[in-house]
Amino acid sequence: MSTQNLERWNELSKKEFEDMAEQYGTPFYLYDADAINHRINFIRESMDNLVEVFYAVKSNPNLGILRTINGVANGLDISSGGELEQAELAGFDMAGISFAGPAKTRNELLASIEKGVGCISIESMRELNECIDISKQVATKANIVIRINPKLLNRAFGMKMGGRPIQFGIDEENINIILEVILANTQFINFKGIHIYAGSQCFEVSGIVEGVKNTLRIAREIETNTGLICTTINLGGGFGVSHTDNQNELDVKALAKDLLPSIKEFHQNSEVPCKIVFELGRFLTANAGLYISRVISSKESRGKQFFMVDGGLHHHLAAAGTFGSAFRSNFILKNISHPNAKLIECNVAGPSCNPTDLLGMKVNLEQPEQGDLIAVLKSGSYGFTASPLLFLGRQTPTELVIHNNEIFVGRHSKKMLDFN
Ligand SMILES: Cc1ncc(COP(=O)(O)O)c(C=O)c1O
Repeated sequence: MSTQNLERWNELSKKEFEDMAEQYGTPFYLYDADAINHRINFIRESMDNLVEVFYAVKSNPNLGILRTINGVANGLDISSGGELEQAELAGFDMAGISFAGPAKTRNELLASIEKGVGCISIESMRELNECIDISKQVATKANIVIRINPKLLNRAFGMKMGGRPIQFGIDEENINIILEVILANTQFINFKGIHIYAGSQCFEVSGIVEGVKNTLRIAREIETNTGLICTTINLGGGFGVSHTDNQNELDVKALAKDLLPSIKEFHQNSEVPCKIVFELGRFLTANAGLYISRVISSKESRGKQFFMVDGGLHHHLAAAGTFGSAFRSNFILKNISHPNAKLIECNVAGPSCNPTDLLGMKVNLEQPEQGDLIAVLKSGSYGFTASPLLFLGRQTPTELVIHNNEIFVGRHSKKMLDFN
């Protein structure tokens, strides 16, 4: 397994795309579940099977995908009661679930404890007290890790989620108070270890290595100072993958080379086996998805060419730059119907009333014609569920999944009326 990438869009013919469009309507998403599974295996094998790979459901919670990765991913990172139910429906073992989020409700904690979720990330004293209280109520121990907001600000991460004042986790300088409460309540809670999520979109091997070493150091310090044993260490992840560039992504082989000595040393010096976990979202899913819409109309406006398609920000907010975000960058667009047409600079606009509804702004695209199918590549993460699906009352797109050379519906299209 020598390659990080296995996406096989180029192997699908124009006719196969047209058949999907005919059968399910446009726009639609198409996910390559085999490519996701390949990446999970690739990462784990690159890490000599010394690190487990959890799938971050938030990046793409499609049931079809979850079912196909069950048994391949070691577990799931979830962030709500809804994702917990989705994981259960997909048949996941609850012991392999890790639940993080800064505002877990009592009902979410109760459901997690009753169902036997493997790791509840404790992000505040209130959550710890609530877990102890629920555990007394239902006579079931809560499995917990402490989510720590480290002192280290890891500058290599595009989106920094630790090392600064933030809503996530317990500040490293305050963990002793939490640990004291844990030590006093071991009859109600299983302390399993720690969780540190430094952030997302890190492209530098050295950034990940620095963060992991820091996490392992903190785990050892807790063990030495308290006598508690970390049997689980969730290293977070944040492996970077670019949406705008085909090549730019974290080099997993290079990461393994620089990281494995520290991981091996940690395992060797552990008295009891310790589960070390990466929880990854977009790195597994981004490349594995296409969003496909059809050209409805075209026009020239003051010398600029516009092609209006039936898809847009309501289904794929990220591709349209999230309602006018400061730094908009085009996803990669391809004309599936005319892949060899000459490249022209144009704008690809969605159907909404908002001028930011542009899937492509001054993009180079194979000259489209009315009726052509246009694909937005790298659309497998934070697409469908991170978009304002009901905005302006259009149907939601069908989500299709490819697995073992078969294409099936992972989620059906719905009308606005279906949500009333
Ligand atoms: C706790 C946690 N784990 C995993 C992820 C997944 O991040 P990514 O999709 O960048 O891998 C996130 C993203 O916000 C997160 O907050």
